[in-house]
Amino acid sequence: MAVTINTLREYKQKGEAFAVLTSYDATFAQIVSEAGVDVILIGDSLGMVLQGHDSTLPVTLEQMVYHTRCVAQGNRGALIMADMPFMSYGTVQQALDNAAQLMRAGAHMVKLEGTDWMKDTIRALSERGVPVCAHLGLTPQFVNKFGGYKVQGRDEKAAELMIEHACALEDAGADVILLECVPSPLAARITQAVQAPVIGIGAGADTDGQVLVVHDMLGLTTGRTPKFVKNFLAETGSVQEAIAAYVKAVRERTFPAEEHTFKA
Ligand code: KIV
Ligand code: NA
Repeated sequence: MAVTINTLREYKQKGEAFAVLTSYDATFAQIVSEAGVDVILIGDSLGMVLQGHDSTLPVTLEQMVYHTRCVAQGNRGALIMADMPFMSYGTVQQALDNAAQLMRAGAHMVKLEGTDWMKDTIRALSERGVPVCAHLGLTPQFVNKFGGYKVQGRDEKAAELMIEHACALEDAGADVILLECVPSPLAARITQAVQAPVIGIGAGADTDGQVLVVHDMLGLTTGRTPKFVKNFLAETGSVQEAIAAYVKAVRERTFPAEEHTFKA
């Protein structure tokens, strides 16, 4: 049965963790969905892992549409989430026009990075039938404002602000929240504070779901490996088995372990 937003809500209600991975092409989409990954993310991380840029900023909507089409061809029942790239949702109208292109290409949900300024945008998308994932914490499109890729929400003031933003975006219509590189106690608080399923990366073991860039979990990281990454290919014999091991570890909550987690 195809995964829908209701499937993710049921997981949250039952306390069952679900697995998310990125894919950018049909082959990976098929392998990942057949391995039991519930959500496939066409991440704008493709700007780094496919295109070789040092940030996600150069990625265009046209490129996201192309990769979303490729993934939709290979997908076998996962929910397809597509990133809206940098400055493709600067205004509400832009967000509507550009989300429409991603939905037509096969996405079931779009993901936007930001804080409470996105309320009107999320409400407009949601009211018109576009489910939204709100990405908070380390939002890579803001790398130039952050001055680097840094863990977010480390002091109590920043933590409380992030909880407020998550709640405000849920109220505006966000169906899923994604937290990147936040201390695990904060991720746990946000997961409790919202009804929406929360997906984490570098956010500890207490979120409702986990996501990794597929290249990273296959040991294909070039440069420094982030703390939250685990190479699942190292302990298995094939890409298929590595992805199955990741799904199992997420469901059993053995991944992420302490060593993959920011405590404060
Ligand atoms: O672009 C991406 O792959 C992402 C995940 C790392 C959450 O946004
Ligand atoms: Na992204």
